[in-house]
Amino acid sequence: MDVDALHDRARALLPREVYDYYAGGAESETTLAESTSAWLRWRLRPRILRDASSVSTATTLLGTPVALPIGVAPWALHGMAHPDGETATARGAAAADALMVVSTTATRSLGEVAAASDGPKWFQLYRVHSPAYTDELVRRAAQAGYRALVVTADLAVLGRRLRDAANDFVLPPRITMANHPRGEGGPGSTLGAALETMASWTFDDIEHFAGLTDMPVVVKGVLRADDAQRCVDAGASAVWVSTHGGRQADPAIASAHALPEVVDAVGNQVEVYVDGGVRRGSDVLTALALGARAAFVARPTIWGLAVGGAEGVREVLGELAGSLSVAMALCGVSDVTDVPADLLTTA
Ligand code: GLV
Repeated sequence: MDVDALHDRARALLPREVYDYYAGGAESETTLAESTSAWLRWRLRPRILRDASSVSTATTLLGTPVALPIGVAPWALHGMAHPDGETATARGAAAADALMVVSTTATRSLGEVAAASDGPKWFQLYRVHSPAYTDELVRRAAQAGYRALVVTADLAVLGRRLRDAANDFVLPPRITMANHPRGEGGPGSTLGAALETMASWTFDDIEHFAGLTDMPVVVKGVLRADDAQRCVDAGASAVWVSTHGGRQADPAIASAHALPEVVDAVGNQVEVYVDGGVRRGSDVLTALALGARAAFVARPTIWGLAVGGAEGVREVLGELAGSLSVAMALCGVSDVTDVPADLLTTA
């Protein structure tokens, strides 16, 4: 399954404004455009004759055992891609033995998605409605079995997505953000109305969430060493390098280019994850050699969901896993928890 071909098929299937919402970035879309090619700043230095007869992709993410260092990044509104929405994504991720991060802005409730598969899941957090309502969502996520809380910290306000503006994008008929209180985040809502509630967040809010729950807290959207250290000081158990799919600050540094600085700053204190433009196993291997514990993908899983439901999601993740295993064998790497930094050189 070629991810680019899948993308084309999804584009043909989805209504224009829905496709643009998923595919688009902010402002000039510079970060979006650079996110995939940014991984090619590095080239592999393959090692030969290292006994590649068995490669292991198994690892742990904050103590959660997973079969792959590849997870499903949080993404809003899966119900626009497939009627089963996030429950289908959850089944596909579980079938591929991959961790799924479920968005606050899911079209199915966090309980329903938790129950849809027995695969490991983390919950992504936005502030919804009020601080008290948001805290309640955190408690419900813990009760439902989510194993970590991923606080998205790069959405003080919504990035200016010019495609959505041109399309007058609002939530389509029958599409509702199921974790929002009744009457909010329903058909006809703008994204701004549903999401712009975090402008006042500071590192104190990270400390608040870390104190509120036994779930480890991951801060997503970190692109700088100083911020990474402040997240750790505030109680984060992991940081996640991300540009929010090129949908927030633009032109922001690509995740692949920000990753080394963040790993340098906090990589010996906490786990570091990355997303943004990961399309092949070699991108994942590069991320691991740069010090990430795992890489996450979102858009490819949305295209898989649109084209083939749960099975489409499974196939995309399976394709990435296969591509990673081959890259590992060809580079003499037998274990994803032991990828040497000297596997890379700059192009
Ligand atoms: C929501 O997180 C979005 O990027 O649209």
